[in-house]
Amino acid sequence: MLSSDNSNQERQSLHGNWSSRLAFIMAVTGSAVGLGNIWKFPYMAGQNGGGAFVLVYLLFVFLIGMPVMMSEILIGRRGRRNPVATMALLGEEEGGSKHWKWLGALGVITAMLILSYYSVIAGWTLTYIPKAISGQFTGADATLIADLFDDFVSNPAAVISAHTFFMFLNFFVISRGVKGLEVAVKFLMPALLFLLFVLLYYSLTSGSFSEGVSFMFTPNFAALSWDGVLTAMGLACFTLSIGMGAIMAYGAYLPQETSITNAAVSVVVADTGIAVLSGLVIFPLVFANGLNPGEGPDLVFKTLPLVFGQMQAGVFLATIFFVLLAFAALTSALGLMEPAVAWMVESTNYNRKKSSAIIASLIWFFGLGTALSDNLLSEFKFFQGTIYENVDFITSNIMLPMSAVFITIFAAWVMSKNSSSEELDGHGVVYKIWQLLARYFAPIAILVIFLQAIGWI
Ligand code: TRP
Repeated sequence: MLSSDNSNQERQSLHGNWSSRLAFIMAVTGSAVGLGNIWKFPYMAGQNGGGAFVLVYLLFVFLIGMPVMMSEILIGRRGRRNPVATMALLGEEEGGSKHWKWLGALGVITAMLILSYYSVIAGWTLTYIPKAISGQFTGADATLIADLFDDFVSNPAAVISAHTFFMFLNFFVISRGVKGLEVAVKFLMPALLFLLFVLLYYSLTSGSFSEGVSFMFTPNFAALSWDGVLTAMGLACFTLSIGMGAIMAYGAYLPQETSITNAAVSVVVADTGIAVLSGLVIFPLVFANGLNPGEGPDLVFKTLPLVFGQMQAGVFLATIFFVLLAFAALTSALGLMEPAVAWMVESTNYNRKKSSAIIASLIWFFGLGTALSDNLLSEFKFFQGTIYENVDFITSNIMLPMSAVFITIFAAWVMSKNSSSEELDGHGVVYKIWQLLARYFAPIAILVIFLQAIGWI
């Protein structure tokens, strides 16, 4: 798999290269598509009034997400090392300072914090598999489905067991290396997409499709606060997996002749498409069943089982759906854990197994805060709300956008034009647009939104 072609650079990744452009796109899409698209996007759009939030989210995906993703890939490919080492190397080469490595380190920590709650939600998904198999959704009405969920999350032992099991799965796969998973992703992603289309058919015939569509696409800016704008920006970074060096790590294995722009466009379109699709499935169901779109994190778990319960082959399809969602969560979770494990293996004398065990235990421990957010510690609120809401706010709305600012500054200001144009092949119009967005638009927009939301402007 190691590419022998290294046209303008001798640098090679230790771990070889992706076998094709498609392999890279599948891998990055596998990391990008996860709970963010199917669980987080709909509930956040619902909480923030729909249309205006969705519009702002889409703008951020293309105007901020895209240039940041291109910057991450180009930095990764230029350095061909893990994010911390790449930032140290390029920082010295291009900017005269090794301290850029702290940007890589910040990403590793952000990813661990995100995984701490991600694993709890993935645990919810896992427990919905046996619920689906045993036909608990069949014929149930909205109240019954809501009770099913509320009974589950109010039971700390059940939530913690599921979280523990999911972290154990992560440990099991990652301690062996993630190779085999790439193959699985190639089958699972299309299968998930297919199932979403089946669900779309049901929501089309739910009787409230147009109401759902108009909720999602009619912008009502009165319903969107600056906090909502900040949330949309955090979500754009989150679903695209940018702002934590994860994409940098993937870029390190990208063959030199592959177009970074084309790859980034494909990933962004696929990821956004799946988010919008899941909104189109969920909102019509919300309105058809008289539910509240602002329900919050439980939204998906209180709508989808309802429609499965009314379908012909509901038991079968619900089972497949939650299995696929759990897999999508697993492929993303591995992407969130790998940077920390890779860092530990490279900077201590612990082997992969021991490093994975230590990192997984740490993340598991942090995750207890989120696992207890809906039960024992539900009254324990500060700043943004529950523990989950705080961890999510700090990581998605502060750490990811801040890292994104520094990543674009590094790629577009610190790196020489020679280096960046070599990676983005050329001086054409695409390079100019990237440069404008990465130099000015992205960092300034992020800072302004950030300062607005915390009330400094
Ligand atoms: N994008 C993932 C999702 O939407 C979550 C995520 C954020 C991620 N950053 C990541 C996954 C880094 C892997 C690597 O669910």
